Amino acid sequence: MKDLLRLRTSLSETIEQILNEQIKMEAEASAMYLAMSSWCDRNGFDFSAGYFKQQSDEEREHMLRLFKYVSDMGGRAISPSVNNIQVEFDSFRSVFEQALQQEIAVTQSFNRIADKCQKEKDYVTFTFLQWFLKEQIEEEYVARRALELFEVIGEEGTGQYEIDKRVPKIKYENEYEG
Ligand SMILES: [Fe+2]
Ligand SMILES: [Fe+2]
Repeated sequence: MKDLLRLRTSLSETIEQILNEQIKMEAEASAMYLAMSSWCDRNGFDFSAGYFKQQSDEEREHMLRLFKYVSDMGGRAISPSVNNIQVEFDSFRSVFEQALQQEIAVTQSFNRIADKCQKEKDYVTFTFLQWFLKEQIEEEYVARRALELFEVIGEEGTGQYEIDKRVPKIKYENEYEG
């Protein structure tokens, strides 16, 4: 029975496993962003709360995109368990620091998956990954820009209020326009 099931997928066990790990990582990112949204909301940072809620939705979309791929390829997509998500954060700024760290970790993870795909000569999955690798450029850009607002605007006086207002307005431009 097990052999029969294996024939249903051209994904190697290694690739199926690493994709399931990434499904979990996206689910954790989604849960983490939701926790950040809640913290911002409780601390009066209304715009950032909305921004992190939106980020959370996007991470769930990423999870589902991976989930669908594993399923479509005849593999076994695993609905991940997500535990011990942080509730409290040290400061408004630290929320954005963690958000950037999280995005960098995701980029590194996709790089590792791409590397595995090449080693296993799985060019179908390698091609599928291109969307995520490109997406991470935008994800890191937005997270980095948000964190930079703390330097550019400063947190004194109405600084935090200004930062909060600007966060949802950060846009990534694909085209270079000098
Ligand atoms: Fe993601
Ligand atoms: Fe992300």
